Amino acid sequence: MCGIVGYVGDQNACDIIIDGLKKLEYRGYDSSGIALCKDGKLEVHKYKGRISNLEDAISEKNLSSSIGIGHTRWATHGAPSDVNAHPHTNLNKTIAVVHNGIIENFVELKEWLIKDHDIVFNSETDTEVIAHLISVFYEGDLTDAVYKAVEKMRGAYALGVVCSKEPDKLVAVRKDSPLVVGLGEGCNFIASDIPALLKHVRKIYLIENNETVVLTKNKVTLYNAERQEVKRDVFHVTWDADAAEKEGYDHFMLKEIYEQPKGIFETLTRRLNEKDEINLDGISMTKEDIERFNKVYIVACGTAYHAGMVGKFIIEKLAKVPVEIDVASEFRYRDPFVDDKTLFIAVSQSGETLDTLAALREAKRKGARILSIVNVVGSSVARESDDVFYTWAGPEIAVASTKAYTTQLVCMYLIALYMGRTKDCLPVEQYNHYVSELKDIPDKIKQILNQEKNILNMAKELYKQEQVFFIGRGPDVGVSYEGSLKLKEISYINSFAIAAGELKHGTIALIEQDTLVIALATQDALFEKMLSNIQEVKARGAYVVGLAKENNKEIERQSDKVIYIPECMDEITPLLSVIPLQILAYHIAKLRGCDIDKPKNLAKSVTVE
Ligand code: G6P
Repeated sequence: MCGIVGYVGDQNACDIIIDGLKKLEYRGYDSSGIALCKDGKLEVHKYKGRISNLEDAISEKNLSSSIGIGHTRWATHGAPSDVNAHPHTNLNKTIAVVHNGIIENFVELKEWLIKDHDIVFNSETDTEVIAHLISVFYEGDLTDAVYKAVEKMRGAYALGVVCSKEPDKLVAVRKDSPLVVGLGEGCNFIASDIPALLKHVRKIYLIENNETVVLTKNKVTLYNAERQEVKRDVFHVTWDADAAEKEGYDHFMLKEIYEQPKGIFETLTRRLNEKDEINLDGISMTKEDIERFNKVYIVACGTAYHAGMVGKFIIEKLAKVPVEIDVASEFRYRDPFVDDKTLFIAVSQSGETLDTLAALREAKRKGARILSIVNVVGSSVARESDDVFYTWAGPEIAVASTKAYTTQLVCMYLIALYMGRTKDCLPVEQYNHYVSELKDIPDKIKQILNQEKNILNMAKELYKQEQVFFIGRGPDVGVSYEGSLKLKEISYINSFAIAAGELKHGTIALIEQDTLVIALATQDALFEKMLSNIQEVKARGAYVVGLAKENNKEIERQSDKVIYIPECMDEITPLLSVIPLQILAYHIAKLRGCDIDKPKNLAKSVTVE
């Protein structure tokens, strides 16, 4: 987590850095700070709270400088406070560091610095160690000192470092935390992610692990861990800067909910040719590979994991291969059965989630074939996979994921369909039926989006609830988990999802008069079973919102309120049923006055374990 930005060039570094940090607030937002180099001195300003606090505090100082670094934080070591905010400096304030990641051996390094170098620490952070380490090794060459410091460090880091004694130079290093370099005219930039730079540059270097970058206003040089210069192709960003703006919507989350028809259309059409066959352009997996796999493992975190829950259902059904699914933080520590006959699917919007990345590496070590489903081009998960199935959702800014989820689902359907056809276990007529239904999804989502007002009215009746249960069967279970996560993460309502049939084995004890239950009953094959489950909770006084396909009107007799989705195949409903749940969560959170795009304690990209 955390976002870093750095600038060297002829314009005012302060404005550019603050603006860039705002684009990275999704990475953490409990404190922020900036260090500027001017007249042979470092000036550091840092404050607890949102970037607006930093902005307000420095607004009258008219800061200007041609070089600087900035940081927006998600606390790991030390509570959010002015002192713990980055940048951190050495004792005589000649070196400043911003850091995204964790230094695992910081206690040991701190003891060494205190004992052997009489360093007095100011903050509780691991990052302050880096500033002092660089200072201890500094003998007139910042790059050399950074190299020596990095040799002592264990953990994950993207660093930006400036030194008042070398005021034309910015040094950056990457290990496991993301880092990009923006190439301008007479100026250069570093950042944790591309949106921070889009206002200024389209030419990007994607920095690899263990690389060090030295930037001056006219030159960017990349070095590997052995200090040899390395060349990198320029990555040209084609998406438009507006993609990372709110464009009149109150929140990024709402804008991203409305972008789903487009994202799904893009994700689908880039993989379908004019005969509606799936093309795997850029993917090297062969027919023989697919026939060899005796197991699929889907591993992910958060919303991406919920996409995996639906993926398991779809792939098993269409491709007739057993699918296991796991949260990445569990997978990596339990010696799972994975070998060269396993297809390992890592799902990640950001492609930088540390647990997912570590799980991927573990699976790779055991010989699995790695196919990832990723939104951010060039991210770590994408680069370390054998093949990548990109989602074409465009940049997702809101912490609560929406369009990434539905486009991840589309990739799951495409993978399942492709495997099913390749293995000849999915008849062509069925394949055609699925594809034609998938192609109708963008329009059907638009029909649901047209119901926003009704869902808002429902939210007005429900927003004071403090406890909600989501229940469903079959693929509705994964959607229930996702609907529940959406609600709890942005509205802070205690919400819980469970397979409807499992309710009676304990959880039903919590159902009492007026408890809100959102019952997903989209599966024709399981509809009657769901009606029984609804009756069970109604009998205990629950207030039920039923969600069903529009022809299943029977749900109205069993529920207090109903949300309908357009008719479609049972297997495809997850692409539709999640949409009203996203909208409901959004409006409930808004009515409760919550900070929707930046919920408390969360960050979009979780680059710590
Ligand atoms: C965080 C975000 C979630 C996201 C999860 C996985 O927890 O708040 O919205 O689903 O990370 O992120 P990824 O980028 O790997 O999909």
